[in-house]
Amino acid sequence: MMLSEKKVIVGVTGGIAAYKAADLVSCLRSEGASVRVVLTRGAQEFIRPLTFKALSGHDVYHTLFGGPDPLPHITLADKGDVLVVYPATANFIGQAASGLAPDLLTTLLLAFKGPVLICPAMNTRMYTSTVVQTNLRLLEERGLVIVPPETGRLACGETGPGRLPPPDTVMEMIRGALLKKDLGGLTFLVTAGPTREPLDPVRYLTNRSSGKMGYAVARAARDRGARVILISGPTALTEPPGVSVVKVTTALEMRRAVLERFDTADVVVMGAAVSDYRPKGVREEKLKKGEPEITVTFTENPDILAELGKNKRHQLLVGFAAETGEIPVHARKKLEAKNLDLVVANDICQEGGGFEADTNTVCLAFRDGRFFDLPTMSKYLVAHRVIDAVLELREEETGRE
Ligand code: C5P
Repeated sequence: MMLSEKKVIVGVTGGIAAYKAADLVSCLRSEGASVRVVLTRGAQEFIRPLTFKALSGHDVYHTLFGGPDPLPHITLADKGDVLVVYPATANFIGQAASGLAPDLLTTLLLAFKGPVLICPAMNTRMYTSTVVQTNLRLLEERGLVIVPPETGRLACGETGPGRLPPPDTVMEMIRGALLKKDLGGLTFLVTAGPTREPLDPVRYLTNRSSGKMGYAVARAARDRGARVILISGPTALTEPPGVSVVKVTTALEMRRAVLERFDTADVVVMGAAVSDYRPKGVREEKLKKGEPEITVTFTENPDILAELGKNKRHQLLVGFAAETGEIPVHARKKLEAKNLDLVVANDICQEGGGFEADTNTVCLAFRDGRFFDLPTMSKYLVAHRVIDAVLELREEETGRE
């Protein structure tokens, strides 16, 4: 359990979504975290302290003055590894941005030195207002993590951005906030998902890639402090918060998006399953049925990674290789042919690995011939092992300079 022994402070402010905080506290506890809850006055209009007392197993903090502890903000600040405000109202965000401290939660925010996550939730017009956006940007510039709200139907009946993300999303951000920031100052360019190659206005050629591995690399790099650009083919996955996502469809679009950003990248992880071929010339009209047989001619797509390999300067290049049989041999060949630094190879025939799964069984092939088999694990943990390997390579390189 990644959060066991971790001390999490949950601040709840007075929005309709405050009821979701009960679920968050329960999820945190089930992962072994110790949780303290701070309620603002507004929050208590929506949900009673008793709920949180029962769920956290501790008294709830709601007042700066008159409680049993004369300095609750300092006691709490020393007690927490991470502070998450879920939900955060426009009022709280405004106070936090201006450094005001009229109550326990805002005072605690000033005294707390660990990572802070703010989860805004409010009416769309309030959320998109210039003042709220400016305040959020200010908080972000000061190092607080803003977990963007989801777009959907809001309590007021309107539809738009402002919905509080579910506890799962925030749990992931909390885990990430507690990781060592060993990628600070580095830019990761990550590709993910399949590409889609049109045949006519309604049909296309694609493959079974779900994008989960590439998205996991993007999330893991983000959690370790990297600036992450994720170039994604069409997937059903939600955009990871804190990552700048560029959506593309075809291999040619992906190539352009990657090349445009290659200079700014320190590390490129090509997790996308780029289609090797595209139908030659997209038909303008829908292909009609009635022919007993048709022939489609394919043109080869550019190999993006091979092109990066030819032009790389300071960048470390990581490629993926989905193979069957003789994995080490294929991995080495790919590494040399494309001038890569690391190849993450997986046997697509093996159980626990492959396309739509949440787990993967991979091996890592290095330039100098080293080769490691990793056990089956979640794609997020595989991503961390890949990043560990990248850091090792960077250290070796700086040692040589
Ligand atoms: O040669 P193969 O397709 O097996 O190589 C896989 C690696 O090369 C992956 O990292 C994939 O993202 C990348 N690739 C690419 N452009 C292509 C085909 C694959 O960048 N056209």
